[in-house]
Amino acid sequence: MLENPDLDNAARLTFAEVTARLAGALLKAKLGTHVGVRSKDVRRNLVTEADTESEALIQQAITRAYPGEAILGEESGASGDAARGRWIVDPLDGTVNYAHGYRLFCVSIAWERAGAVRLGVVYDPMADECFRAATGRGADCNGRALRVSDCAALLDALVVTGFPAHRVARPLANLAPFQDFLSLAQAVRRDGSAALDLCYVAAGRFDGFWESGLHAWDIAAGKLIVEEAGGSVTDYRGDIATLDGAELLATNGSIHGEMVNALRRYAQKEI
Ligand code: IPD
Ligand code: CA
Ligand code: CA
Repeated sequence: MLENPDLDNAARLTFAEVTARLAGALLKAKLGTHVGVRSKDVRRNLVTEADTESEALIQQAITRAYPGEAILGEESGASGDAARGRWIVDPLDGTVNYAHGYRLFCVSIAWERAGAVRLGVVYDPMADECFRAATGRGADCNGRALRVSDCAALLDALVVTGFPAHRVARPLANLAPFQDFLSLAQAVRRDGSAALDLCYVAAGRFDGFWESGLHAWDIAAGKLIVEEAGGSVTDYRGDIATLDGAELLATNGSIHGEMVNALRRYAQKEI
């Protein structure tokens, strides 16, 4: 291990970016080929050949560069010894978009040590945008510093959410908060990639994002990118957000209180 953790993290960040760009190029090359789309546990939860190939590419790169470190990948689960660090990988976030040729999807790679995410990279191959952050070092997109918006009131805010495809039990439960924000915010979007939703908050394109039922691979990188861009990330009560994704609220900070006020009554409900 390197003596200087900053140098070590810088090398890891570069590694994560190079790897995410390679995986993103693979996704882009296969877009529209409609090869190997199949349902996972339920019909609306898709996995494509691109998901599995992207994850294999990322896993091989990590195993080569950082042998023995743990990997949590959406398609292949957990492996390795987390005591030495853990890579958290979504090889394709926005699978439903991807399967339909809707050009909003990305690769997300984060690295965690001792329970804290230290770096994150989200790469959108169609826009060729690479969002990156390292703890205490700020966030950037293609080398340009990221900063959340200065929108001060929810009524002026553009907010975004998601409706998880695989939540068959209560697929419409997020409609209540969605409806609330239709009147509380300037406008509401649903884009289909939680990792990019978070990066867009970091970039000031969205002012707020909420969703429940997400997984560590959806949010590990994007959460750090928002925080390092000056934003706030909590659960629906305004308390510390965990990576289990029960509830996630990410904003520019200024409208956080207003969004917590709106979401608090939905906290800990299985939306
Ligand atoms: C999904 C996307 C989507 C969100 C779902 C996620 P996937 O990830 O992030 O925006 O609403 O909850 O599962 O399945 O495309 O990797
Ligand atoms: Ca995902
Ligand atoms: Ca995925």
